[in-house]
Amino acid sequence: MEIIKWSKDLESGIEAFDEEHKVLIETINEVYSLMREGKRDEAKKILVDKVVAYADKHFKHEEEVMERYNYPKDKLENHKKMHNFFVRYLIETLLPEIEKGDDKKFNEALNFIVGWLIMHIKNMDVNGYGKWFKERNIEVPDKKIEI
Ligand SMILES: [Fe+2]
Ligand SMILES: [Fe+2]
Repeated sequence: MEIIKWSKDLESGIEAFDEEHKVLIETINEVYSLMREGKRDEAKKILVDKVVAYADKHFKHEEEVMERYNYPKDKLENHKKMHNFFVRYLIETLLPEIEKGDDKKFNEALNFIVGWLIMHIKNMDVNGYGKWFKERNIEVPDKKIEI
């Protein structure tokens, strides 16, 4: 079962980041499937150990590449703020809610994660650095980071 699907409009044109986004999407789907099977503890473990940890690594990778190619400072700062907000919100608000709450809370948290991620990839990644790198024909030779 999938809660989030990869589609062309999520493509930034930077292979490493597109691959990393796919890993994130796959892992979120894994969490969703486990929840649907009633395996809440396993779902929680994957969410914490893989989704949160990988999102954090992925964000740092993006930030490092934007810096490497002199992505405009104001845009970079704004992008970093969004990443930081998401990681902090996950750790400080959503995870404690999941910890205390019921399945409904878990599903609400999952819906928030999915909504935020799609919005961020489209608005900040694809239409942000994706466009900017494309306009300058910059090829990023990086490989995707491992989980
Ligand atoms: Fe991203
Ligand atoms: Fe991003």
